[in-house]
Amino acid sequence: MEFTTAEPFLHKGLLQSFELTKYILKTNVYPREPSPLKELREVTAKHPGNFMSTTPDSGQLMGMLLKLINAKKTIEIGVYTGYSLLLTALSIPHDAMIIAIDPNKETYEIGLPIIQKAGVEHKINFIESQALPVLDKLLQNKDNEGSFDFAFVDADKENYLNYHERLLKLVKVGGLIVFDNTLWGGTVAQPEEAVSEDRKESRRSIIEFNNSVSIDQRIEIALTPSGDGLTICRRIR
Ligand SMILES: C[S@@+](CC[C@H](N)C(=O)[O-])C[C@H]1O[C@@H](n2cnc3c(N)ncnc32)[C@H](O)[C@@H]1O
Repeated sequence: MEFTTAEPFLHKGLLQSFELTKYILKTNVYPREPSPLKELREVTAKHPGNFMSTTPDSGQLMGMLLKLINAKKTIEIGVYTGYSLLLTALSIPHDAMIIAIDPNKETYEIGLPIIQKAGVEHKINFIESQALPVLDKLLQNKDNEGSFDFAFVDADKENYLNYHERLLKLVKVGGLIVFDNTLWGGTVAQPEEAVSEDRKESRRSIIEFNNSVSIDQRIEIALTPSGDGLTICRRIR
């Protein structure tokens, strides 16, 4: 199987077939990928952390969700070079906004010129910080409760349940919270001893998260095998 430099995320494909993952990307995803996103993907591919980027097929699904719910006020936790951030900015209206949180501004700045060129920077409020204190600060203002339409979480897996609790207060009933990497390279279905040491801790957190949301009566869920696993939670109460 041939890799191209712009596809370092292919190994994440849970379809266990690079050919099938490529087929989906080639036939349905790349032909419709907006050119700024393609440019950002190609720039990101040169960065050593490129495997962290949200996959284009998951991006396409998120773009659809954002438009379906007409999202205007959104939060993103875990920006990296900004693939999912730019995708969100391109999918929401001109007067909509994103609070984007990441303690690493350097990687955000890799994608920033492309975001600026795409004319969507005005929608983004980038906060250089760990996410939990920012969410807690937002929750100190009662006006923020139930005011967000959409949240995307793609950062430290150990805090997924902490993010979930806070975002459930910030996102309105009918709004969506989307979590990336919820199949953790397929390791959630493997015995722990078969998993490499560096993946064990996050795997445990993801399994705990998956078990918890599966019985959470405040949300409806769909865990899709897109990219590295995308769990879509819809707040219902
Ligand atoms: C998987 S990457 C995000 C990828 C991004 N969604 C994209 O499409 O390129 C994870 C990011 O989470 C950030 N991060 C790590 N710990 C964090 C925390 N406690 N709060 C917010 N972001 C965090 C990292 O700096 C990194 O940029």
